[in-house]
This record gives sequence, C-alpha cells and structure tokens, in this order.
Amino acid sequence: MKKLLKLYAVVNQNGVELNENHWLGTWNFSVSFSNFNILWALNTLPMFEKRFMEMIYKRAQRPEDLLWHSEKPSPFLVEAIQQRKQPGRALDIGCGAGVFSVYLAKNKYDTTGIDFIPLALQMGRRLAQQKDVTVNFVETDLFEWQTSQPFDIVLDSGCLHTVGDGNLKRYKQQLLSWTTRGSDFIVGHFGKRNFFDWRPVGPHRRTRDEIVKLFAPEFEAVKYDEHIQTGVRLPVGPTIQLMSLWFRRIK
Ligand SMILES: C[S@@+](CC[C@H](N)C(=O)[O-])C[C@H]1O[C@@H](n2cnc3c(N)ncnc32)[C@H](O)[C@@H]1O
Repeated sequence: MKKLLKLYAVVNQNGVELNENHWLGTWNFSVSFSNFNILWALNTLPMFEKRFMEMIYKRAQRPEDLLWHSEKPSPFLVEAIQQRKQPGRALDIGCGAGVFSVYLAKNKYDTTGIDFIPLALQMGRRLAQQKDVTVNFVETDLFEWQTSQPFDIVLDSGCLHTVGDGNLKRYKQQLLSWTTRGSDFIVGHFGKRNFFDWRPVGPHRRTRDEIVKLFAPEFEAVKYDEHIQTGVRLPVGPTIQLMSLWFRRIK
C-alpha cells in the first residue's frame, strides 16, 4: 500500500509543471499531498469549493505558488482594453491574488476585485502596493455582492468553472446587474473534450456552446480561443483544455 501511494505521489510529482514550488518534495509530505488531491478531486461538490480554496491560499506563500498562477493576461483582455477609447471601470470576479486586477489598474481602469478568501485578498493588496496601483479589493461572495454603478470590463479568470451548475443562473443574474449594454465580459474556463473531461473531478468542465448559451441573449460572443495545457497534476490532469471567451453585452 505504501509503495502504491509512493508511486502515485511520484506520478503526480512528474505531472507538475504549473507550479515550481509545489510541496511534494519527499515521501513524508505525500500523505498531506494526497489529502490535498482528494480535496482537489472533490472540489466540484459545493460544500468543498470554499474549503479547497482556503487550503490552496494557506499553502501559498506568494501568488507564484498558486496552482493557476499566470502573469500573462488573456489576449482578449489586452484587446478589449485597446479597443476601448478610454479607461473606465473594471471588475475582476474571483480575483484571487489580484494579478489581473493589478494589470487592469495599471491600464488606468478604476478596478474592483472580489473574492471570498481573505488570504487571497491580502496577497492582492500586497501586490497592488508593490506595483503602486490602487485596486478596490472586496471580500465577498460573488453571489451576494451588489454595486450601483456598472462596469465596462468584467473579467472572470478561472472563477466560473468553480461554480456548480445549480448556481449558473444566479451567476448570470449577478453579471447582468454589474454590466450594461456595451460592457465586455472575458472568461477563462476549462473545456470539456473527451471521456476524461466528463469525470466529476476538479473544476467544472463545460463546452463552448454551454457557456455561449448561458450568457445569451444579453451577451454576444465576440471571440473564442482554446488550447491544451499539458503537465497538469492528477487527478485533474494530465491535460486540460483551456478556453477563452470574449462576450459583449448587446441588450
Ligand atoms: C482559480 S482561482 C483564479 C484566481 C484569479 N482570477 C487568477 O486568475 O489568478 C478562482 C478564484 O475564485 C474565487 N471564488 C470562487 N468562488 C467564489 C465566490 N462564490 N465568491 C467569490 N470568490 C469566489 C476563489 O476564491 C479563487 O480565488
């Protein structure tokens, strides 16, 4: 049994490419690592979503330690900013450590980042300070948060795919209350390709059509892109499809 677990740990270790500073260095750590994996596997269940996130942020010392860390903004976000004549208001849903909130603020957007994990927001505040920008970080559940003024750009980089099917309608209602005609909405989401993507493990995988249908008719799809990410740790990996969708609100 011990050998099997060790093999499992080694296989996982070899699968890691997303995060250089992962914690599986030795066999001693593999038990807690496998607990982490169990939680990762179960994080499609609503009762584990927040716990899983809390655990991830607790283990990370800095944004670079997070599984999904990337400093590269979605090309669609870059393009949306370029297309708009002047900066306006931006919302980063599930902003995490605030990398993209800071990017928006650097581009002179009056930016709000919302997340329900205090440790994530602490990282975001630190990053904003380091980069010398102001971001309005709000600790809140996205399903409860209200605002009086709409946003020009709304970004969801990896938050929607943590939301279960039962909450999708509520998510859309919230999005409608935060946007107006002409607002851009950019989403990064795991895609659903083959048998393995149908496993109820890790973030929810959805097809492009499912997402387009969810946001229609108020939002029209502007652009779509997808690519395969390799070296993703089991049980979620070893490969995932990453989709980027750009919507514009038309009514
Ligand atoms: C995969 S992380 C992505 C973080 C960040 N957007 C990025 O790209 O680096 C998803 C984030 O969504 C947040 N989140 C998930 N459900 C949420 C909810 N109901 N309300 C607020 N934040 C939520 C999590 O805490 C987590 O920080």
